This record gives sequence, structure tokens and C-alpha cells, in this order.
Amino acid sequence: MIYSRISGTGSYLPEKILTNADLEKMVDTSDQWIVERTGIRSRHLAAEEQDTCDLAEMAARRALDAAGVEASELDLIIIGTTTPDRVFPSTACLLQARLGNHGAMAFDIQAVCSGFIYALSIADQFIKAGTFKRALVLGADSFSRLVDWTDRNTCVLFGDGAGAVVLEASSEPGILSSHLHADGAYKDLLTVPAKIAQGRLHNDGFTKMQGNEVFKFAVKVLSDVVKEALAANELEGSTLDWLVPHQANLRIIKATAKKLNLPMERVVLTVSEHGNTSAASIPLALDVAVRDGRIQRGHTLLLEGVGGGFTWGAVVLKF
Ligand code: UT7
Repeated sequence: MIYSRISGTGSYLPEKILTNADLEKMVDTSDQWIVERTGIRSRHLAAEEQDTCDLAEMAARRALDAAGVEASELDLIIIGTTTPDRVFPSTACLLQARLGNHGAMAFDIQAVCSGFIYALSIADQFIKAGTFKRALVLGADSFSRLVDWTDRNTCVLFGDGAGAVVLEASSEPGILSSHLHADGAYKDLLTVPAKIAQGRLHNDGFTKMQGNEVFKFAVKVLSDVVKEALAANELEGSTLDWLVPHQANLRIIKATAKKLNLPMERVVLTVSEHGNTSAASIPLALDVAVRDGRIQRGHTLLLEGVGGGFTWGAVVLKF
């Protein structure tokens, strides 16, 4: 049996930090409201000249270094992103050129905040099938570009960043299972309705969100999908070493941990300093906890996320 295993992780956060105090000067909000409702205290923002591929490249190089893999050895590059540098080529192809890889399959996945979970699962299928041996899988977003900085309903939530893993074929597990879902009936609850046609942007290019409805939906589907993921592996929530959740809102994360009977000490939390970095949030959190030594080889992890579409999913793996 061939498994796919994470052999290295990496991440990158842009230098500029935007605090809740900064936001108090921009919109009618308060540090207290933001912390109580979301758990977010600050977020990182890409510099004007930094695009998603710049963030992705930093994270990718760190993951390749950690894995001891050369970019030329990669067979597959997938980026979960909603903020590609160009309409085409894909950001994965742009990254491939930066890294100096020629010939690997490379493409972007558009599943918003579930993008990394989707990408990881796809890479896992290719490796398990024996098609490829080494994949670079990223979540990278400069979501601040899609935020209306005068809309207090959304602008306090999001930040920019990138996270990456190298996934390699192994006789040891590895990714144990992945559980992916979508329901386009909810397309209008969280959306950027813009499209490009005839050289112009049509419709609004900013994020529109019915926060409360998104919140209720997220709690419900995450609870369902973590139960599905545990059942598929005959695991109890309390036996997980780490929950690595999408970092959208501390209250949503706490609800999921409660469903799993998992104490918050075993949940990786970065939402306070990163905010919601969309597809980047899960691999960013993973890399933080790997590098500070909390996540160790052999630990059982549950990764989960939900995003626009709606899309949602979970991955169970042995690190
Ligand atoms: O990756 C998935 C992406 N998105 C999410 O996961 C977001 C999910 N939703 C949420 O996290 C929460 O719904 C929010 C944090 C966005 C909002 O929290 P809430 O507890 O659901 O608040 P609410 O939307 O019910 O709004 C309560 C009040 C409203 O005022 P009124 O109408 O009661 O007078 C809002 O106008 O809070 C007001 N409000 C704010 N006040 C201060 C909304 N945003 C702000 C703000 N500062 N930034």
C-alpha cells in the first residue's frame, strides 16, 4: 500500500501587521467587539508590491528546505487560492517558474477557505494511485485585496499569508482519509460577485458576507464532517493529538473542539495573530505548531475547514 506523507512544512506571513487598534481608526468598531466575536487581535497584510505568488514562494521554499527536497524533484504543484496573480496562467504555474521546476503537473484549486484541504486530498489521490511521488501543496491568499476596508462586517476578519507542505510517497501512513463536500445552493452567503469581461470588471469586486448565516452553517457542517472523518477511521475525538482547524473565528473553532470532546490545549490556534487567511490558514497553523515542536512525528491530526461555495472538508493524517 502506498501512502502520502507530509515530509516538510513551511509558511510565510507578510511583514505589515494591522491591529484592532488600527481598525478602530478606519471603521466604527472596537478591539473589544472584534476579540469577543472573533478572537482576532491582529492580522498580516501583503505589501502593495507583494502578490499571492510572492507569499507562496516564501512558504514553498521553507517547506522544500524542511523536507530536503529540490524543486526539480516535484511531480505535482497545487495551490489552493482565491486571489491568483492573474486570471491565467495559474498561480501554481507562476510558482513553478519561480522555483525552476519544468514539467510537473501544476494547477490552482478554487475552493476559497477549503482550498488547502481540497488540494491536499487531490495530491493524496495522485500519490496513493502511484501516479506521482512528490507533491508541493499550498494554500496562499492575499485576501485583503478582496476586502472593502470601509465595511466593518468583513474588514476586521481577514489577513494575508501562505502555507505549504511537501507530500511524498511512503510505505508508512500518512494521510488516512479525506472528506470533501460542497453545496452551491449557498453561493450568495459568502461571495465576491465580480467577473472580468471585455476588459472590464463587472459587478462588485469586494467580499459580501451574511456573517451570521455563515457562522451557523460553518458550525453545523464542521460538526458533521469531523464526525464523518472520525467514524471513517474508527477514532474517538479525544484520541486525536491535534485539531488544526481553519482559523476564521475562535467561537467556531471552540464549537468544533467541543463536538470532538477535545480540550482547547490540543487545538492549534493562530486566529488571534493571523485572522482569517482563507486557504492559507490551515497550512500556516500546521507549520507554526510543527516548528514550535507541538506537533511531532507519529501524532494523529485532524484538519478541517469551510469556505465560500459553500465548500467544506476534513483530513485525518498521521504526521
Ligand atoms: O472562512 C469562512 C468565512 N467567514 C466566517 O467564518 C465568518 C462567520 N461569521 C462570523 O464569524 C460572525 O458572524 C461575525 C464575526 C462576522 C459577526 O459576529 P456575530 O456575532 O454573528 O454578529 P452579527 O453579524 O449578528 O452582528 C451583531 C452586531 C450588528 O449590529 P446590530 O445590527 O445588532 O446593531 C452588526 O452591525 O454587530 C455589528 N457589527 C459590528 N460592530 C462592531 C458587525 N461588525 C462589527 C464590527 N464592529 N466590526
